Amino acid sequence: MIDRGRLERRIGELARIGGSGTSVSRLGLSAEEQQARDLIGGWLAARGAVVRRDAAANLFGRTGGVGAAVLVGSHADSVPDGGRFDGALGVLCAVEAVEALLDAKMSLRRPIEVVAWADEEGARFGVGLFGSAAVFGRLPAGIADRRDRAGVSIADALRAFGERGDPALARRGAKEFASYLELHIEQGPRLEKAGIALGVVDAIVGIYHARVTIRGQADHAGATVMTARADALAAASEIVLAVERLARSRPDAVGTVGEIAVRPGAKNVVPGECVFSLDLRTSRDLDPFIHDVLAAVERVAHERHVQASIDELAHVPVTTLDPKIREVLRRAAKTVGVDAPEMTSGAGHDAQNPALAGVPTGMLFVRSTGGSHKPSELASLDDAALGAEALAVALRELVS
Ligand code: GLV
Ligand code: MN
Ligand code: MN
Repeated sequence: MIDRGRLERRIGELARIGGSGTSVSRLGLSAEEQQARDLIGGWLAARGAVVRRDAAANLFGRTGGVGAAVLVGSHADSVPDGGRFDGALGVLCAVEAVEALLDAKMSLRRPIEVVAWADEEGARFGVGLFGSAAVFGRLPAGIADRRDRAGVSIADALRAFGERGDPALARRGAKEFASYLELHIEQGPRLEKAGIALGVVDAIVGIYHARVTIRGQADHAGATVMTARADALAAASEIVLAVERLARSRPDAVGTVGEIAVRPGAKNVVPGECVFSLDLRTSRDLDPFIHDVLAAVERVAHERHVQASIDELAHVPVTTLDPKIREVLRRAAKTVGVDAPEMTSGAGHDAQNPALAGVPTGMLFVRSTGGSHKPSELASLDDAALGAEALAVALRELVS
């Protein structure tokens, strides 16, 4: 049995790191994220786990038997002005589930490793699923040199923790792991609408992230006639609308431009350069969707006589989760009294990296309300406790 009071207390403790009210800003590879690792590592060490941080700043706490480990956890970072549960609840429930097995003096034939992944959100350096990509050999090339807005590189940020600055050193073989489990809040309204506390993820959408730079010609906003302009923002605006149109034309797709910057950025200067993000997702046929969007970028650039360049940040295929682990999770949910439906995740998750590396992987969703990536994001204590209990049941089956 999990300890509901302990879980409740720890939800509050973790949320205070980088927190203000119900808002949490605990960016990947920041001092706050490290503080979160210290807190989580302390809980695990107190139960006799061997705790370590790897070269990509992931935290592992290992306990139990020998052989390939069951890996369980989620991420410790948040988006800026995010909520208390995205990622955090998965780590908290993993710790709680392991403690429940230890409290029950369960013999753990296999090792269990609790993991708190570093920089899942990619809010600071632009590349998400960072820590899990490092461990499973899926980091984009040259990533350590990427810089945040203040000019600090990923390598610098890792060195500030005392690491060597090369996240690729965190790589481990998929064979080290018997399975990977991740509990996460749903971040959408489906479980709430269905009146069900838990769901089992069957697949995770494919995700393409990129930064597009449009170079036009900066010029005087009064003296430059409309026919003599190469306005980078006007071109970007057409592309933003094309992304929306192309995503709407596909039943399973979403497309978002969530960041945009204009240079030089003055009201009386024709925009000379515009940099914006692309977030494209679909549960099927990701590549044709990317192709259509990139073709639109090229077409608009050609028609408007501007230059467009694309910096690809992530290209994660649609990821199907392991049918046997899904069954284990469905049974575990049933044990705690929930008939958990299978559902596809529209959010990206660290679980994609072990799954794509061949580790049998499953995800349990906990009903959440109030949206996500914002302070109103909420999982009730009842649902969180039910999720932790189901996770403990699944872990017990996988380690014994
Ligand atoms: C992770 O939160 C994502 O962007 O899906
Ligand atoms: Mn998130
Ligand atoms: Mn998350």
